[in-house]
Amino acid sequence: MNIIIASDYEDMSRKAADVIAAQVKAHPNCVLGLATGSTPIGLYADLVSDCKEGSISFSGITSFNLDEYRGLEGTHDQSYRYFMNTNLFDHVDIDKNATHVPDGSNPDSDAACADYEKMIAAAGGVDLQLLGLGHNGHVGFNEPADYFPVDTHIVDLTESTIQANSRLFDSIDDVPRQAYTMGIGTIMKARQILVVANGADKAQIVHDVLFGPVVPQVPASVLQLHPNVTFIVDSEAGSKIKDKL
Ligand code: F6R
Repeated sequence: MNIIIASDYEDMSRKAADVIAAQVKAHPNCVLGLATGSTPIGLYADLVSDCKEGSISFSGITSFNLDEYRGLEGTHDQSYRYFMNTNLFDHVDIDKNATHVPDGSNPDSDAACADYEKMIAAAGGVDLQLLGLGHNGHVGFNEPADYFPVDTHIVDLTESTIQANSRLFDSIDDVPRQAYTMGIGTIMKARQILVVANGADKAQIVHDVLFGPVVPQVPASVLQLHPNVTFIVDSEAGSKIKDKL
């Protein structure tokens, strides 16, 4: 486990963008696993700058996002497809046909999830998976549970996640109650994993994920068992682990 405490959000973003840029430069046809949320916005902006400056190209890249709300079309401004288009895909030279987000508009959850697993496998699996970290240790929409869900599946969102995401919708009633998400098994199959977290409100969960027991009640704790994980956190999110490194 490689743990890096960056000085602030900008430094965390740049360091994380550098990990992705290095992967893209070394393997221009690789498969990236991508995340939405507030945390990666800065690193996506850095990757857009790198691409505009010509230091990296996404033209050969295939991508798979972690998750998508069930019931939202990709054109909905709170869909994760829309987020990815506006924060990254629209501004770089990636082939949009090679970018994948679970199909939130497909009401057949079994088909939507099985198709997604097949597409990831057909692409050869994920080379580098980017993850954000929920306050309760969720990754993707894998919420605390009594077991680690394996494959891409449908989830009922917890009240705390609905609450946290409601800031992005007009009202809490508009927040979808279900989502499609890669499973913990899907995530753990990635050959390399990069986790980003920032802010004082993530300090405790960063500590628990890295130094607590590996339990499905803290889904991201399973990352302790992955052979190639890099955590990049800002100084606030790293405040409870800095004395342990
Ligand atoms: C997003 C995702 C979520 C977020 C997590 C942290 O695709 O899978 O698990 O990474 O909720 O969100 P932020 O970055 O907004 O704190």
